[in-house]
Amino acid sequence: MKDGYWLVGFQYEFTGTVYSLGRIPRCKKAMLKHLRPGDRVLVAGVGHGTEAVEASRLGADVTAVDLSETMLKHFRRRIERENPPGPIRVVHDDIFNVQETGQYDMVIANFFLNVFSETRVREVANHLGTLVKPGGYFVVGEFVLPEPGWRGIIQKINWYIAISIYSSTTEAVFHPVWDYPGLVKGAGCEILDIEYFTIGGVSLYWSILGRKNPAPAV
Ligand SMILES: C[S@@+](CC[C@H](N)C(=O)[O-])C[C@H]1O[C@@H](n2cnc3c(N)ncnc32)[C@H](O)[C@@H]1O
Repeated sequence: MKDGYWLVGFQYEFTGTVYSLGRIPRCKKAMLKHLRPGDRVLVAGVGHGTEAVEASRLGADVTAVDLSETMLKHFRRRIERENPPGPIRVVHDDIFNVQETGQYDMVIANFFLNVFSETRVREVANHLGTLVKPGGYFVVGEFVLPEPGWRGIIQKINWYIAISIYSSTTEAVFHPVWDYPGLVKGAGCEILDIEYFTIGGVSLYWSILGRKNPAPAV
């Protein structure tokens, strides 16, 4: 199986934390407050698994999926080190091979959708939406969509530094920031909440909480 992170996977979590002055790990965990013990959670493109371990601590039944064996090696080490209370199911596979339609109370895609091209990202977001139970949550943590004015310039610089590095060292595609709230809506969810993570008064990251629309009554 292709491992797009074999070269840089080892430093991914550390560098993201330092680069964002701690905002990225906070962003990844922001919407876990909506979990209840026993909820089924899917973390897509889990990487080193910050939110997966935290969701387990909160009593969730966690499934974590990633294509990269390098990322999963670091995630498994973290599980051993931090010993979260519940078992975490670790799946080494393409997210499209997860076909558990409507099975999850919360599907989390943190800094995952940003690796895909414009066409592919819609397919991935829509697929993730199918995995959420009606009434369940779809959570996306990401770089914010640049706003007009000087803040937008800083937001663009922040994004283009990151994507320039990762598109030249991983399989991530070089592209502008996608409209993540639009993708969540396109996946059949309404937006319930957005939490912003700022540095020096500029929002750089956001965690978007979508709720899957219940199936229409017949
Ligand atoms: C940018 S990293 C983010 C990792 C983690 N979510 C985080 O926030 O630190 C994207 C992750 O998605 C994984 N990935 C990319 N395409 C995938 C796919 N089709 N199925 C499953 N995982 C995938 C990569 O291996 C990588 O670990």
